[in-house]
Amino acid sequence: MEAELQRIKEEAEAALNAINEADSLEEFRVKYLGRKGMFTALMRNLGQAPKEERPRLGKLANDFKRTLEEVFAAKKSALTDTGSRRADKGRLDLTLPGRAVPFGKRHPVTQVMDEICSIFERLGFTVAEGPDIELDFYNFEGLNIPRHHPARDMHDTFYIDDNVLLRTHTSPMQVRSMEKAAPPLRMIAPGKVYRCDSDITHTPMFHQVEGFLVDRKVSFADLKGILAVFIAKMFDKKTAIRFRPSYFPFTEPSAEVDIACVICHGKGCRVCKQTGWLEILGAGLIDPAVFKKVNYDPEEYSGFAFGLGVERIAMLKYGITDIRLFYENDRRFLKQF
Ligand code: PHE
Repeated sequence: MEAELQRIKEEAEAALNAINEADSLEEFRVKYLGRKGMFTALMRNLGQAPKEERPRLGKLANDFKRTLEEVFAAKKSALTDTGSRRADKGRLDLTLPGRAVPFGKRHPVTQVMDEICSIFERLGFTVAEGPDIELDFYNFEGLNIPRHHPARDMHDTFYIDDNVLLRTHTSPMQVRSMEKAAPPLRMIAPGKVYRCDSDITHTPMFHQVEGFLVDRKVSFADLKGILAVFIAKMFDKKTAIRFRPSYFPFTEPSAEVDIACVICHGKGCRVCKQTGWLEILGAGLIDPAVFKKVNYDPEEYSGFAFGLGVERIAMLKYGITDIRLFYENDRRFLKQF
């Protein structure tokens, strides 16, 4: 019995050694290790061995079987490993370079917004964010734009109900921040704004960055100084700036700020409509009426505020002529930035 066991073991090992393709493996498994295989048959014959021999022989047979199963498993994994198997047959070229994984990037609007914020952060401004869905009070009333004020017409507001709307600008963050904290205040508020308007320079959703500073003895010169630094950092150092008188209900005096056209440098072209100038933001000294809404004493404090359009700055910086390109998600456009 023992000799028979030894013989089968050697025979099986030799057979396994001779196998060099995965297809023959199954045949081997059925013949030696399967339910009707040689080892099973041997174990069944164990009953005929002398009683005192049985435990030793049983153990021996089991050990043989286990060793054989291990060798079989190793052989199987070597032969069926897809890489080496396909390489062996010449179907896989291991010298080919790997597939490149395309990297994502931040959206150009996000990049420009981050750049704007980081310039102001270096000037000591802190960043605050507020809700896109805003109350009438913060978007209008608190900014000195009462119910029937004609300035409401300029805003093309999306109303949710009488009292709730999608903010039309980031200026509500002036009111929210002043309500929460006492001066001095030096903040920027980046975010999405919404207006019911759509053409090559307008999308119903766009981005603004609001900036404001409140302290004692803040003057228009401070506003001009901060904006000059910002424009020099954002565009070319030598970019000319122009302040034009304007009107906003929440600033007095108010101005719109232009930079010399980045395309023609002031000579006049299509982008600047032959004026040589491009408008980039609205600004002014915070109206005392706004201070009264948040219980700041206008006799003691003064401040400035400005609001700039992020898409507009991105378009000027990169020479993009259609704002809608930002929102079409065409990777050929997006990957250039
Ligand atoms: N909120 C104004 C707008 O959206 C811009 C602005 C902000 C003007 C702050 C003055 C001061 O047009």
